[in-house]
Amino acid sequence: MRSNIVVAIDGYSSCGKSTLAKALAKTLNFIYVDSGAMYRAVTLYFLRNHIDISNEIAVMDAMQAIELNFNARDYESHITLNGEEVSEEIRGMLVSDAVSEVSANKWVRQEMVRQQQRMGQSKNLVMDGRDIGTTVFPDAQVKFFMTADPKVRAERRYKELAAKANNQVTLEEVFENLAHRDYADTTRKESPLTRADDAIILDNTEMTPREQLDFAAGHVRPFLR
Ligand code: DC
Repeated sequence: MRSNIVVAIDGYSSCGKSTLAKALAKTLNFIYVDSGAMYRAVTLYFLRNHIDISNEIAVMDAMQAIELNFNARDYESHITLNGEEVSEEIRGMLVSDAVSEVSANKWVRQEMVRQQQRMGQSKNLVMDGRDIGTTVFPDAQVKFFMTADPKVRAERRYKELAAKANNQVTLEEVFENLAHRDYADTTRKESPLTRADDAIILDNTEMTPREQLDFAAGHVRPFLR
């Protein structure tokens, strides 16, 4: 039995996992780890350095050359890639289009899971992703599996992107990207997205952020005593 509390939040792309995870971590004074940001930062490194994903040696070498760090207490998942702050750049469409392929790689996942497990060794934390409750922390005390209507998810993500300067992306492109990532995430060989048997389903299509937070915190509070 682990002595620190781990809350695993898994689910489809853009269904509000990180919004809930951040709010929950802040409310409970837990550390927040955005595991998707880690895969995105690795993807950015691969794109910049033209790493051929089919070349195992190149991938393994690259994983040794990458150092990721979070400012875990700021709840905004600010991440650095070899010392450079890349939080904005990893959210762009270039990375979004390539991240499924990179995150499906066995060597990439092996290293990311190792780092994530280390982060959860002693401190209370909330981690969101795709395989947190199934692979990274199968022994997490509380697991949520989040889902929402695909159209609603695309609209939410589109609004987020549209709020940023220089963003030319259309709602259809966002919808396509999400559909592609759902397919890739659920059908890949390595740690496909799937609900852990003991995960609580949270469909937030018609829930406000506040309702989601109350629901989730209500499930974690019993473990705080
Ligand atoms: O949560 P996100 O959309 O920022 O994640 C980016 C990609 O990383 C997503 O397409 C799937 C992948 N991912 C993963 O394979 N495993 C995780 N634990 C987190 C993210």
